[in-house]
Amino acid sequence: MRDVTPDGSPVEVYAALPALGEPEIIEAVLSGRGDVLDLGCGTGRIADVLARRGHRVVAVDESAAMLERVRVAEVVRARIEELRLERRFDVVVLASHLVNTPSPAARRGLLRTVAHHLRADGHAVIEWHPPAWFDEVRESTSVLGEVGVRLGDLRRSDDLLTATVVYTLGSVAWPQTFTARRLSEAELCTDLSEAGLVFDQWLTPDRTWFSARCDAAA
Ligand SMILES: C[S@@+](CC[C@H](N)C(=O)[O-])C[C@H]1O[C@@H](n2cnc3c(N)ncnc32)[C@H](O)[C@@H]1O
Repeated sequence: MRDVTPDGSPVEVYAALPALGEPEIIEAVLSGRGDVLDLGCGTGRIADVLARRGHRVVAVDESAAMLERVRVAEVVRARIEELRLERRFDVVVLASHLVNTPSPAARRGLLRTVAHHLRADGHAVIEWHPPAWFDEVRESTSVLGEVGVRLGDLRRSDDLLTATVVYTLGSVAWPQTFTARRLSEAELCTDLSEAGLVFDQWLTPDRTWFSARCDAAA
């Protein structure tokens, strides 16, 4: 099977990738077991780890092929922008730099969904490319679990960076080209505010993960 999602993510690759500290980043904002919504969950690489640890996890993705690989978390197939569950969560996760989508309207749609599903005292946990990444990123190769990862073909144009990641698993290679938009911290805060969220704190020293809260003034 060589399933690829609409955004180009290869299902086999995400099924083979291990969690890389993300569950611990998310658990750091929870006090005890909690209700977690993982938006753009893929194969449940993060969601299933949290569910196995006793959190109640709802895992959302638009790709049926990805959701078929989720083992423990409850799954919902939907586009994130259109998701409107009746339930609210202690943590809403938006990982994988989805917030750096080139389209400002799409970004606002993602953030509105995050805000809609947060409890009043909940935390959004978001992974982004901080502004410095756009200047510092270089061609590179790495190995994550069984997966080889080669980043190349970097092209910069104003605030947009386009690159291709080639994932290798066994003898099979999957190229995935993506475009990310550089956001300043001020632009990020403006988009959070428009969605009814307010920046809370950096969750990692490299500032790739941060939390946001419901804006009490919104
Ligand atoms: C790069 S994969 C990462 C999956 C998971 N977050 C992880 O870290 O393993 C991105 C996932 O987000 C999903 N996705 C991207 N945009 C989406 C959208 N607007 N609505 C629903 N799913 C989306 C894709 O289908 C894909 O499974």
